[in-house]
Amino acid sequence: MSKKGINQIVVGNFYNSEEYYCPNPEKKFGTMRYFFTGDNCSVALHMIPAGAPQAPEHHHVHEQFLLVPQGDGKAIVDGVEYDSEPGFFAYCPSGVPHGYNASEATYCCWNLDIFYPERLEYEKDNYFRLLAQGKKPMETQITKDTVEFV
Ligand SMILES: [Fe+2]
Repeated sequence: MSKKGINQIVVGNFYNSEEYYCPNPEKKFGTMRYFFTGDNCSVALHMIPAGAPQAPEHHHVHEQFLLVPQGDGKAIVDGVEYDSEPGFFAYCPSGVPHGYNASEATYCCWNLDIFYPERLEYEKDNYFRLLAQGKKPMETQITKDTVEFV
């Protein structure tokens, strides 16, 4: 038994784990986030509308792969801005600052982030853990004041 608690196969539809992040109070450019955590890693899938304000640059102890299946926004990695056409990816070692900017994007950006180790700060509302416990995952309202953009 894992000390962290999932340690079992869990199958579901991740669209049911929908969380909402809105970087401005007018809620004009909300970003959808689907987030889930295993025992040792985490995944976050973001849908970022074209024109959304820049997500703040940040860093964390987790290694992060940033993959862009769709979109024409800008990725910022260690102070360097990159055009993130579909297929763009970046690997950010622990502690490297990074962010994403869709403010000048012309169409919706999809951004998939993979973290190691898991993002324990999101433990409370973890979709897979709730499913493993026989609970129904709930929609969670996230604001800029309660969580950093990942
Ligand atoms: Fe991050």
